Amino acid sequence: MPDAVVLIGPMGAGKSSIGRRVAKRLGLTFTDTDTVIVREHGPIADLFASQGEAAFRRIERETVANALTKGGIIALGGGAVLAPETREALSHHHVVALTVSQRTIASRIRGSKRPLLNGGDPLAEWVRISEERRPLYESLADVTYDTSRGPLKNVVEEAAEWAAERLGVPLERKEVE
Ligand code: S3P
Repeated sequence: MPDAVVLIGPMGAGKSSIGRRVAKRLGLTFTDTDTVIVREHGPIADLFASQGEAAFRRIERETVANALTKGGIIALGGGAVLAPETREALSHHHVVALTVSQRTIASRIRGSKRPLLNGGDPLAEWVRISEERRPLYESLADVTYDTSRGPLKNVVEEAAEWAAERLGVPLERKEVE
């Protein structure tokens, strides 16, 4: 199985946008497991509503396992690490955890399509869920970057350097916007 660099972390931490740019920077494939799920099963909010969270998690587990067989750069949904099978699988890959402060997340999750944040107070829910999962993210991470401040391209560059070294691919001198 080819090695993958996998991005984990709470909703809105920047897993998809940073993952996509890191992949582009390194000329590697990028898989966003949420995007695959939407393509194959429709909007995540609809899946939660019609089939429930457990069904979503089952689909997510299979989608993640399949993505890992392909290697490259992979961004997971925030709750993917809840599955013990996924945690075990991640131990065979290189894991980047992204963090983000409460202050920064407020604007990122506004108007979000995320069903888990659609209850009462989205920010309070985000804090509760990310605190609950924090030990999982921390225990799985090989490296951690905070995305709260500064241009995203600084994190992209650092993560790309790290990923290039881990995967043994050349880091060309180019910048990705
Ligand atoms: C979820 C995170 C979402 C998506 C789904 C559930 C979670 O992905 O998979 O809404 O449980 O944290 P992002 O982390 O990309 O928002």
